[in-house]
Amino acid sequence: MKQIRAFAYLLLIVISVASCSENETPVKKKPKAWVDSQKDDHSYANVDQVSTKHLHLDLDVNFNNKTIYGVARHDFGKHNSDTVIFDIKHLQIQKITCGKKGNEKELEFEIGSWDKDSILGQPLIVALKKPEQFVNIYYQTTSKTEALDWLEPIQTQGKKHPLLYTQGQPILTRTWIPLQDSPINRFSYSADVKVPKELLALMSAENPTEKNENGRYHFSMKQQIPSYLIALSVGDYEYRKISTKCGTYAESNLIDAAKKEFDDLPKMIQVAEDLYGPYRWGKYDLLVLPYSFPYGGMENPCLTFVNPTIIAGDKSLVSVVAHELAHSWSGNMVTNRTWNDFWLNEGFTVYFEHRIMEEIESKEYSDMLALIEFGELKEEIKEFKKQNKITDTHLKLDLKTRNPGDGLTQVAYIKGAFFLKTLEELVGREKMDNFLKTYFSEFAFQTISTEKFIAYLKEKLLEPNDFKFNYEEWIYQPGIPKNCIRVESKRFREMGLLAKKFANGDDIFEPKTTYEPIPKSWRKKRVTKQIKRDDYSTQEWLEFLRSLPKNIETEKLSLADAYMNFSRWGNAEVMTEWYVISIRNNYKPAFLPMEQFITQVGRRKYLLPIYGELNKTPENRLLALSIFDSAKFNYHYVSKTSIENLLGL
Ligand code: BES
Ligand code: ZN
Repeated sequence: MKQIRAFAYLLLIVISVASCSENETPVKKKPKAWVDSQKDDHSYANVDQVSTKHLHLDLDVNFNNKTIYGVARHDFGKHNSDTVIFDIKHLQIQKITCGKKGNEKELEFEIGSWDKDSILGQPLIVALKKPEQFVNIYYQTTSKTEALDWLEPIQTQGKKHPLLYTQGQPILTRTWIPLQDSPINRFSYSADVKVPKELLALMSAENPTEKNENGRYHFSMKQQIPSYLIALSVGDYEYRKISTKCGTYAESNLIDAAKKEFDDLPKMIQVAEDLYGPYRWGKYDLLVLPYSFPYGGMENPCLTFVNPTIIAGDKSLVSVVAHELAHSWSGNMVTNRTWNDFWLNEGFTVYFEHRIMEEIESKEYSDMLALIEFGELKEEIKEFKKQNKITDTHLKLDLKTRNPGDGLTQVAYIKGAFFLKTLEELVGREKMDNFLKTYFSEFAFQTISTEKFIAYLKEKLLEPNDFKFNYEEWIYQPGIPKNCIRVESKRFREMGLLAKKFANGDDIFEPKTTYEPIPKSWRKKRVTKQIKRDDYSTQEWLEFLRSLPKNIETEKLSLADAYMNFSRWGNAEVMTEWYVISIRNNYKPAFLPMEQFITQVGRRKYLLPIYGELNKTPENRLLALSIFDSAKFNYHYVSKTSIENLLGL
């Protein structure tokens, strides 16, 4: 059926090109907005003329000199172009050939100049003798690569072997593979990867579950994916099956904890499939990376990469897994056309994540997640207003000449999710779910722009039901529209009251949970109505901390810390919140654990607020500079440059 439709559509184009339109057209014309013609501002590739259909990679991963030696074998299928343009950044190109492996002829190529802001890298322009189907690029990575994080044995959990992982989104894949680095194009890929014998290689594809003797691994991703989803990690990993469909990889000392933390995964997959249709990628596994991983999770197909901080021991942060799993539909299957449409990836995924958590936990729980995030969104919008960056609060962005990473804000995620929540409130859950389910199947393994989405929304949901919805205001205007749905939480209100009481001098804590000796004078102050850590969820504690007044006496912080051990709480979300409060109020006992935390953990979401708060006074700025100076070796390029920008280095 799809093929016939595609053929009919092609026919339509041929007819209009040949301007024979006097004849009656045999197919129903699709609305104009369904045709995407927008260019990708973040790629040099001429994908409209020639584009990779399949990519095969021959890779040799050399830990001695931290270099990948590779051949990227592009199969373009049939085309008519005499030139093909790739994206590269900090890659060394040795030679380029055409033809099938073993029967290759060298081609001439040219490397264009850097863009002014050195964001995009360089175009690699290859002249073809005839419209060649196969083009092979022989290359190696360099020390300036932005995607690769090479870890010394000492930086791993096991301390014995080195480790490598990649981060491709949004435009870093071009720093380890020469390719057309635009989500506009999708292709299947395969790889032959050689690694040291003691290590296991894993990719965003079908994966081995054990090491083999010769260190050679073959991978195959049969579905067509955008370039940012190609991923590789090499390390001393083990695998634990959770069900026939899913499992987790980690270094040996984290593997059991990981398996336990993620054992709701089969249920999550079931919930997701019940909501929006089948999971279409074969297996779904998680890979627990080192703490330096700059994100909480990255949705590499078949193998989500996660930061070990999400293993909190009590499943309190598994919504990150729900989020990455949801990307198997929103993002990986239906992909944003350009980085200006990023909200279509992330906003839909947060909405989906909340729906999964609603089933796994409860509506009350998913509402708390939403409220915490909504608070962050409001803060961020305020900040954008202050900095005169109001257009960054639009869902549809204009990131031309900017780093597409700038689009990674709560606007895409949370304003995006609230757009869908508000729409759901208007149309009702049943219609909303039907709409989303057909959206995912209609555009499966395709790319979609905001405008194409709007046309689809109007045609399938709004117009047939006569719904009026201010989607233009939501998408193309700043801030949060007035009709935004209001999420309420009774538990959060209680937490707010508790925080108020505490700030007013009430001793609300349970002495039994004391981790450090308490001075006698405090014991006397004890009141009978007291609370324990386990009485409340992580999200409620976050709300408690956020509800404290910005400026609070260090004596009170010291009391809270003595009872609840916030400085060494163990949950990265709570600790980040606590460290920011402690720095702001100059509560010194939290500084050492804070320093240990930001030296070990390289997740940007935690580093930015802590370094940001330190940067506010000259004395703390000096501390920030000195911590950064020694910790930067533990950070991935993404986090390292974010902190450098923040500190103005
Ligand atoms: N795809 C993103 C991470 C990303 C976005 C990396 C853009 C590079 C550029 C991933 O799905 C994500 O959103 N991760 C979040 C977790 C989530 C629960 C909000 C993170 O890492 O914080
Ligand atoms: Zn995401």
